[in-house]
Amino acid sequence: MDAYECIATKLDVREFGPKKVPAEVKLKVLEAARLTGSGVNRQHWKFILVQDKDNIRTLAADSTSGSWVGKADFAVIVLTDPKLGFAKIDAGRATQDMQLAAWNYGVVSGIYTGIAHERLRNDFAIPLTLEPTLVVGFGYPTRTTTGKKKNRKPLSEVAYLEKFGNAIDPKKLG
Ligand SMILES: Cc1cc2nc3c(=O)[nH]c(=O)nc-3n(C[C@H](O)[C@H](O)[C@H](O)COP(=O)(O)O)c2cc1C
Repeated sequence: MDAYECIATKLDVREFGPKKVPAEVKLKVLEAARLTGSGVNRQHWKFILVQDKDNIRTLAADSTSGSWVGKADFAVIVLTDPKLGFAKIDAGRATQDMQLAAWNYGVVSGIYTGIAHERLRNDFAIPLTLEPTLVVGFGYPTRTTTGKKKNRKPLSEVAYLEKFGNAIDPKKLG
């Protein structure tokens, strides 16, 4: 899959099939996170891969907006240093890279930020210096997930040329 196709077809899904994701793909997902650029190259992040079924269930119980992660084959908790102003940007970039790397191998994923912080911290031994910023759940798609369509605003509503409000004219881009 080329990079543009991967971006254009990737969806956030909340349903996963029972097929196991192989170790090589899990490693590729973590490598994608590690290889992402961060503010001032600080690499302040840590990534906890959760695959044990009991731990996946605990992760779901520790969420306020992502209980669907209980059906994921594995998940990654993204931790960042909250003292850095760009921490959440870094988390977003690493997360998108992990999701795209997974999708390249046919593995779908979904993200959530609704975390019961204290419980998650205790259950996954997260130090106080790091913030659980988001969680990504991964797995193979089901028939329902493959039928999902992207719902996005048209380019004319979100992009301008040179100045705010100026329409993008493809003839002027060459
Ligand atoms: C910053 C951020 C926070 C999100 N938080 C949640 C969440 O708490 N729970 C959830 O189910 N989805 C969450 N999502 C997923 C979004 O709902 C999803 O990206 C959006 O609906 C687009 O989905 P699509 O790419 O499949 O069209 C979050 C996404 C982002 C980027």
